[in-house]
Amino acid sequence: MLTIQTQHPAVAKTDILVLAAFEDQSAYSDPQLQELADRARDWPEFSGKSGDELIFYDLQGVKAKRVLILGLGNSAKADREIVRKAAGKAVGRAVEADLTSLLICPPELPSGEKGRADAAEAMMEGAVLANYRFDLYKKEKKHKPVKTVWFYADDRFEDQARGMAEKIWIICQGTLLARDWVSMPPNEKRPAGFSRSIAKAAGKEPLETVILDSGDLKKNRMRALLSVASGSSSRAQMVVLDYRPHSWEKTIALVGKGVTFDSGGINIKPASGLEGMKMDMAGAAAVAATLISAARTGFNQRLVGVLPLVENMPSGTAYRPGDIVKTASGKTVEIGNTDAEGRMILADALDYAVKQYAPDVIIDVATLTGACIVALGEKIAGVFSPDPELSDLIAGSGEKTHERCWPMPVPEDYRELLKSDFADIRNVGKNRWGGAIAAALFLSEFVGDTRWAHIDIAGPAFASKANDYCRPGGTGFGVRLLMDTLWKL
Ligand code: BES
Ligand code: ZN
Ligand code: ZN
Repeated sequence: MLTIQTQHPAVAKTDILVLAAFEDQSAYSDPQLQELADRARDWPEFSGKSGDELIFYDLQGVKAKRVLILGLGNSAKADREIVRKAAGKAVGRAVEADLTSLLICPPELPSGEKGRADAAEAMMEGAVLANYRFDLYKKEKKHKPVKTVWFYADDRFEDQARGMAEKIWIICQGTLLARDWVSMPPNEKRPAGFSRSIAKAAGKEPLETVILDSGDLKKNRMRALLSVASGSSSRAQMVVLDYRPHSWEKTIALVGKGVTFDSGGINIKPASGLEGMKMDMAGAAAVAATLISAARTGFNQRLVGVLPLVENMPSGTAYRPGDIVKTASGKTVEIGNTDAEGRMILADALDYAVKQYAPDVIIDVATLTGACIVALGEKIAGVFSPDPELSDLIAGSGEKTHERCWPMPVPEDYRELLKSDFADIRNVGKNRWGGAIAAALFLSEFVGDTRWAHIDIAGPAFASKANDYCRPGGTGFGVRLLMDTLWKL
């Protein structure tokens, strides 16, 4: 739980009181907090630089048993991510020590009221995101999340802080839900099971859920989606989530790649890293969790989520390299590689979203290419759009949320990479260069004139290494990003 508290921190009953300190100046105007936080600087191991931490026990004049001081670096350089990480670290320490509650005092950044609100918001995010463990499959739960994260707000800041906490709680629960789904083992989230799990979570919110089964998909002539699923004993599904506020001006469609396990199919992947391919549904997880969060926060536009779900497996019934498949759009695709399955299922899903809902904007989110990881590494997503305003808008949300997106080109003359001798288009480029761009160009064939962006999250969807507010596993990347983007569309 994330709760605001107005009682002075010195007299608050909590397991651990958390304060911040800059290198160059005090983080608080309150003299008592100032004095407390400044004590850390008396110790040579603490200078206030970002990452510094010091803990005091049984300080006189403080009710809390422990006081943790966290360095934030130079006050002019402290940004949202620095304070988000600091709060994450504080919660991490509390969880490791098996404490039940902590009270965080967000700093008043030198940039005034706005800076103060920004810092509080980012700290709340870091705290909620760090208070999470994926331990569903362990009998012995090593550490439990803390029960309550308290945030101090003085009387003047109280109302604003309460509103903030409510919104951030909902959005971060969306991120954690996406993490659960991405980390879940692939035997537990095959298409039918995953669609049930999405419907169950969405059913608690003002959202309409429709599940198209393979019969419906056949009626809709979605041969691209069906052909990818044909190697698996688990049939394809398409989940459609529809959020309608009382009135709206725009319809926004989000489409998420939902490959519950990507073996590569007949073009089977090498053994190393294969188990990681349970994360190939992270786009669908992010979109489903975003719809749920948007509905809970009362988003003001119509929002549709389209989630094609399949398992990509090799078998006697699997689709083959060389196959020519007719997509729902009518375009035929020659299969150059069965491991380029994400773009196949997205082709039919994008076409469906465009034709059924005529959206003003369509954004797809997908763990689409290894090439995008080669280009941008494991922490940054690629954003592709023929509309630079749209990609800049998404990149801006990426900066703010630290779910970073780097704008990539979609050059028209690269389209020749996808030329096929026998069909309208091939599902892979002629060579391996520019693989992420070729994939984006392939998707662009299925959105018509709709304003569209594609976000390739192959890198950041899954973390092999922990950071201050995310342990190894699914990261939930995309939920906070999209929640910020939506309000700007
Ligand atoms: N799911 C993979 C992309 C991926 C790779 C995601 C690594 C996360 C981590 C995708 O379906 C795939 O296999 N893409 C191929 C495309 C190629 C055959 C043109 C790739 O990137 O190698
Ligand atoms: Zn693949
Ligand atoms: Zn894939």
